[in-house]
Amino acid sequence: MKSIIASIAVAAGLMIAGSAMAVDMPANGKAKCGACHAVDKKVVGPAWTEVAKKYAGDKDAESKIAANVTKGGAFGWKMGNMPPKGMGASDADIKELSKFIAGLK
Ligand code: HEC
Repeated sequence: MKSIIASIAVAAGLMIAGSAMAVDMPANGKAKCGACHAVDKKVVGPAWTEVAKKYAGDKDAESKIAANVTKGGAFGWKMGNMPPKGMGASDADIKELSKFIAGLK
């Protein structure tokens, strides 16, 4: 089931990437984070590409991002407070999304 969802997400991502050249947010990100975040633009919280820039060259980027997403709060963006774990993300979601965010260019 999970792999079916993943392949649909990848297919949808490729279709969108074809027209807009943007990386699509994984399905669990859309569900648990999408109300406040987009990959490449500011919404309620910072664009994830901006977060990737903040941690560029930091070999611990993925674990630092995961720690911040888990505890929530403010991280210096002056945009308000992020709820811990977004909208109910599991630890596995957070691990996967932190890797995705850290890997953005
Ligand atoms: C209710 C809105 C909201 C939701 C839902 C939300 N965020 Fe955020 N997020 C924010 C805000 C606001 C900030 C900026 C806080 C600040 O001003 O420092 C932020 C900041 C961040 C940052 C920057 C951390 C850093 O170290 O600089 C990351 C990464 C992030 N969010 C990831 C996520 C992920 C992943 C999810 C889903 C699991 C998520 N967010 C869900 C509002 C949200």
